[in-house]
Amino acid sequence: QQQQLIDNFGRRVNYVRMSVTDRCDFRCVYCMSEEMTFLPRAQILTLEELGMVARAFTELGVEKIRLTGGEPLVRGGVTKLVDEIGALPGLDDLTMTTNGASLPKHAEALYKGGMRRLNISLDSLNPERFKRLTRTGNLDKVIRGIRSAKEAGFKRIKLNAVILKGRNEDEVLDLVEFARNEGLDISFIEEMPLGEVSDHGRDETYYSSDDVKADIESRYPLVPTTEATPGPSRYFRMADSDSRIGFISPHSHNFCSTCNRVRVTVEGRLLLCLGNEHSVDLRAVLRRYPGDMDALKEAIINAMPLKPERHHFTTDGDVQVVRFMNMTGG
Ligand code: GTP
Ligand code: 5AD
Ligand code: SF4
Repeated sequence: QQQQLIDNFGRRVNYVRMSVTDRCDFRCVYCMSEEMTFLPRAQILTLEELGMVARAFTELGVEKIRLTGGEPLVRGGVTKLVDEIGALPGLDDLTMTTNGASLPKHAEALYKGGMRRLNISLDSLNPERFKRLTRTGNLDKVIRGIRSAKEAGFKRIKLNAVILKGRNEDEVLDLVEFARNEGLDISFIEEMPLGEVSDHGRDETYYSSDDVKADIESRYPLVPTTEATPGPSRYFRMADSDSRIGFISPHSHNFCSTCNRVRVTVEGRLLLCLGNEHSVDLRAVLRRYPGDMDALKEAIINAMPLKPERHHFTTDGDVQVVRFMNMTGG
């Protein structure tokens, strides 16, 4: 009988989100500050270390790994890492969250490495506004990225849209139309207070999932999906489309009681909750006992009791976690 990871609240951890870089070619206003500095090479896990962490988790019963960033596709060698993780026994879902801009270059290699699902961030369909929200992004490139992922064979592609009042809340229906026409799923996300962001007050931009849902239902009645999904998203369907619509609502519908996930930052910090600082330094273990799988697994097992019951995010504009989202992996 394989050992499993279970926390003090009886939640089974079967999902790991691994950040493979803190760098990104975009600077989304809710994620990064404008003048962000990045970590020195020596501080981040090597590709070998990342591969070893992934293997340790699968040997502990983890079935799903998501690669995140920063932007995972800007990490050199990431497709080799995908090949390696994709071949791990016991893993049934290898996925990535990306800004999409590098998919024309990498989609095919990801698919060949065994990846079948992708989440692509898309907050606006208006080129100038897209530029303002991402600061350095180019909408056209992302649309091309989405198309190349479809051509490469990806069937379940999900868009992620963070909706902010005064910036893109008038685009909810356009984004839904786009997802329907392209045959994609879409999740709407409430902004979380991670890192000090400069260009907007988070207390002013809060737009709840219920508001988004009401906007959609003015045109398309939504029916909850019957499939139970652990984790944050609540999914709905429209009557005449295969696209699913998800809501990630850390503020308005807390989902911590069914949390099934932990994160590993690019510095090798095993983070037990997105909204808390409880963590264990896996990099120290990896570098003190190079190649020692048992030591690594023991450190992971011992971390489970540190997983907090829930986050305590508020919408009053205060930063609750100093760490930026790009350090955290979303
Ligand atoms: P699935 O793996 O399909 O459930 O994807 P996902 O929607 O969880 O992943 P994705 O990387 O696309 O993240 C979408 C949003 O959900 C991001 O804003 C994440 O920060 C947020 N999110 C994911 N997991 C958690 C969590 O455990 N807690 C909180 N508060 N937010 C989360
Ligand atoms: N709050 C909510 N979502 C965020 N993301 C980045 N920063 C934040 C934040 N502060 C989203 C991105 C991406 C996903 C990984 O996380 O838009 O889709
Ligand atoms: Fe980059 Fe994603 Fe952060 Fe935007 S949200 S700056 S695309 S890591």
